[in-house]
Amino acid sequence: MDCRCGVKTLIVYGTRYGATTETSKELAKVLREEGFETIVVNAKEEKIKDISEYELVVVGSGMRMGKWTGEADDFLKRFNRELGQKKLAIFVSSMKSVSEREGKTMDVASSRKVALEDKVSQFSLHPIAMGFFSGVIDFNKMDFLTRRTMGFLKPQLEKDGFNEEPPGVYELRDWDEIRSWARDLAVKARQ
Ligand SMILES: Cc1cc2nc3c(=O)[nH]c(=O)nc-3n(C[C@H](O)[C@H](O)[C@H](O)COP(=O)(O)O)c2cc1C
Repeated sequence: MDCRCGVKTLIVYGTRYGATTETSKELAKVLREEGFETIVVNAKEEKIKDISEYELVVVGSGMRMGKWTGEADDFLKRFNRELGQKKLAIFVSSMKSVSEREGKTMDVASSRKVALEDKVSQFSLHPIAMGFFSGVIDFNKMDFLTRRTMGFLKPQLEKDGFNEEPPGVYELRDWDEIRSWARDLAVKARQ
């Protein structure tokens, strides 16, 4: 049934460098267009105390060294039992498009496993959708040491044809993929 009723939806996310904020806002925009009553919460700025009113919960995180943010992990832990009764979707911001452009399909699969499948096992989740998105490499937001450690990536990003715009920032996201995932999620959540 194509229900346009306002499914109450919470998007809660963790971010270190900001990319997951924009991705979460775009997901919310599409879900609202689909008629979902959606709020977006940065888990670091607001500690959610109660999720009883939400029918759909979307939890996202940026990846760093194979890890979710502590806040997003903490949310999955604190609401583990309630999430079992909800429609749940999870997503990450990653570097997958770098591996994709280099044709490293094994790397894409293993990063996806670490980012999503292992997370599902860790918290015994039953998501109706999992989004494996790319994020942003923003050298301006890294601390000195991280910038130095990640320096090797710059020539690789250039070689792979990612544009540096503005200086120090490489946008890796495929917005069509993100929007399309949100529309598919809306269909699944109505079922
Ligand atoms: C220090 C550092 C480590 C990263 N480690 C990973 C990683 O292990 N796996 C991955 O897919 N992406 C990794 N990335 C890419 C991030 O996932 C990407 O920048 C994403 O946009 C981060 O999300 P955020 O901006 O919301 O924090 C890393 C980026 C940085 C700067």
